[in-house]
Amino acid sequence: MDGGNCSVVSEFVFLGLSNLWGIQLLLFLLSSVFYMASVMGNLLIVFSVTADSNLHSPMYFLLANLSFLDLGVCSVAAPKMIYDLFRKHKTISFGGCIAQIFFIHAIGGTEMVLLMAMAFDRYLAICRPLHYLTIMSPRVCAIIPATAWILGLIHSVVQVAFVVHLPFCGPNVLNSFYCDLPQLIKLACTETNGLEFMVTANSGLISVGSFLVLVVSYIFILVTVWKHSAGLSKALSTLSAHVTVVVLFFGPLIFFYTWPFPSSNLDKFLALFDAILTPFLNPVIYSLRNKEMKAAMWKLCYQLLGYRKMP
Ligand SMILES: *[C@@H]1O[C@H](CO)[C@@H](O)[C@H](O)[C@H]1NC(C)=O
Repeated sequence: MDGGNCSVVSEFVFLGLSNLWGIQLLLFLLSSVFYMASVMGNLLIVFSVTADSNLHSPMYFLLANLSFLDLGVCSVAAPKMIYDLFRKHKTISFGGCIAQIFFIHAIGGTEMVLLMAMAFDRYLAICRPLHYLTIMSPRVCAIIPATAWILGLIHSVVQVAFVVHLPFCGPNVLNSFYCDLPQLIKLACTETNGLEFMVTANSGLISVGSFLVLVVSYIFILVTVWKHSAGLSKALSTLSAHVTVVVLFFGPLIFFYTWPFPSSNLDKFLALFDAILTPFLNPVIYSLRNKEMKAAMWKLCYQLLGYRKMP
């Protein structure tokens, strides 16, 4: 345990999700399918929104930004996890591990800010329709994603700064399939109680805080919609899509960072949700119930197949 004469850890070993061949095969098939579907679905949204001038409005720009982030979310941990599934010795270099933490927090933090911006956008559209276009001007629309990225990056840099100088000198096995802070910190050969508290306070408070802000905003919007009851069903279907995405995204996160009794096996399978399932579900939830989005996607598909106009 003394930091002076111990060998320095240069790589970490993942225990992975399972050692049973049947489960590995099942996970391999499911993860590959969901990963491919996430990538295709989110690419389709980004390109449809960019290509179709009917969708050049703040709501769709924000949605395209969310899809762009989801491409990142599903590519940070999932490809390596899939590649590792059948390997006996699943390793990741120290740098790779820090990179995963950096991207997970940068993209996750950005996504939280963006989800709040999307809630604000719906609030304006539903509760302040007359002021909507003046407030969500093109300038504001460009500032929102930029702000989200800056805040996400700041959050991530702070998190990485906590761990990058920790001494790792002995144990290097992570009961997980990707690197993240709560587990990595436990491997450091130094006293880390204070650090664990910082991480829980930082990531935990941010997730719980943004989740509460989002829940309160959506309740507020729902109540407003209810009182005026005009366009109720359309508003409800849009809002329920947003609320579903928010719950799916934050549920597992809040569990990792704030649940005081670590149970890595449950953690691991919940992590699969955020790693693969949520990025896959976002396009499904937002698009399948939205006529304009579906029309734009079909148009794009026809154009890709070489038709000038929809047949
Ligand atoms: C993100 O939003 C901005 C404006 O709100 C838009 O110009 C940009 O194209 C969007 N990014 C993507 C990847 O769609």
